Amino acid sequence: GFDISKLRSQTGLVTLDGGFGNTAAYKSAITFLDGEKGILRYRGYPIEQLAERGSFLETAYLLINGELPTVDQLSGFRDDITQHTLLHEDVKRFYDGFPRDAHPMAMLSSVVSALSTFYQDSHNPFDEKQVHLSTIRLLAKLPTIAAYAYKKAIGHPFVYPRNDLGYVENFLRMTFAVPAEEYEINPVVVSALDKLLILHADHEQNCSTSTVRLVGSSQANLFASISAGISALWGPLHGGANQAVLEMLESIQAQGGDVDSFVNKVKNKEDGVKLMGFGHRVYKSFDPRAKIIKAAAHDVLSALGKSDELLDIALKLEERALSDDYFTERKLYPNVDFYTGLIYRAMGFPTTMFTVLFALGRLPGWIAHWTEMIREPGSRIGRPRQIYTGVEIRDYVPVEER
Ligand code: ACO
Repeated sequence: GFDISKLRSQTGLVTLDGGFGNTAAYKSAITFLDGEKGILRYRGYPIEQLAERGSFLETAYLLINGELPTVDQLSGFRDDITQHTLLHEDVKRFYDGFPRDAHPMAMLSSVVSALSTFYQDSHNPFDEKQVHLSTIRLLAKLPTIAAYAYKKAIGHPFVYPRNDLGYVENFLRMTFAVPAEEYEINPVVVSALDKLLILHADHEQNCSTSTVRLVGSSQANLFASISAGISALWGPLHGGANQAVLEMLESIQAQGGDVDSFVNKVKNKEDGVKLMGFGHRVYKSFDPRAKIIKAAAHDVLSALGKSDELLDIALKLEERALSDDYFTERKLYPNVDFYTGLIYRAMGFPTTMFTVLFALGRLPGWIAHWTEMIREPGSRIGRPRQIYTGVEIRDYVPVEER
């Protein structure tokens, strides 16, 4: 009932809510999340159904346009994307300038930001035709940008997109194919990656999505806003957690797989060590995505014929944490990132690419939120208030008298 925005800024009333734990900045019709019950729905569709039966591209269409596409709409969307997968040849030169050991997330956000220099007609956020074109360009080019970042790191020549392939197949080929060698795309990997992208596609007002909205609220263009979202995703408390989980599991493995002493370290908050891949601002029970991904980790590893000692450590760690008061009292459960790294690793991705895969999945969600915000009548620039805690007033003292 009561709409605090009606108060505008006139009353001098300011609420302090660190980390926005209880403050909604927007109304949104995109994603429903119930953290107590562990429910996640995109545009009303349960995540379990989309992951089981849908495809990433139709999920992207759903998030951005509000409805699942018809056969014709989906094939039109797919064709549009397919026609825009190439990068301008000059974009490739950016990669020459990056050091070889550059983190791929840094390359991803830089190159996405640079796209706005190539598409200068796209800067008006109210030009619906241009926004549609930017949407298609981003969805089409992000996998190419990501695959090139990987090729740069390993010193291999870039593999150009091939337009007869599906979205995920094309990405896998650009990433893993070596010129002049046959590359066989494994359907198990394709379907697992497609499912993972669906599960990452949106998660309402998370840190990166809120960033995209906040940057976009100044009416900055879509490329600039998405680039900011990629930067926000990179941090280890957000999308960077998938990389951090794997590094944590490897360090436990190096200590002889001693899960107990690691958990004790976490409980004693030694050196700020956290159980990465556990806990969530909104989920206070099982993250429904983690449930699906845990099952997928088993399936993919066994289909690829890979056993992974790290999976055993992860299972032990989960079991140990879930039977410990420290975690149950704080309602800390595995989140989406706890098992994804193990799947990405089995697929052949290096650890530094994990968060890039998250970005590929989250892109449609970012675009959907940016678009919803821009189209909202009366949408205002995002501008949080503050409680000032500094010195009240003092007189300037010339430098030589200080
Ligand atoms: N390991 C150990 N303790 C934890 C963890 C964890 N992973 N997460 C939270 N806690 C503890 C905190 O220390 C705090 O304990 P205290 O009350 O004794 O001080 C309590 O649980 C509450 O935690 P907050 O930090 O207040 O929770 P918040 O909602 O701010 O943070 C976050 C959520 C960032 C996800 C946190 O749980 C975390 O750092 N997890 C590890 C990183 C991670 O997996 N991030 C991915 C999140 S999902 C995503 O972005 C896709």
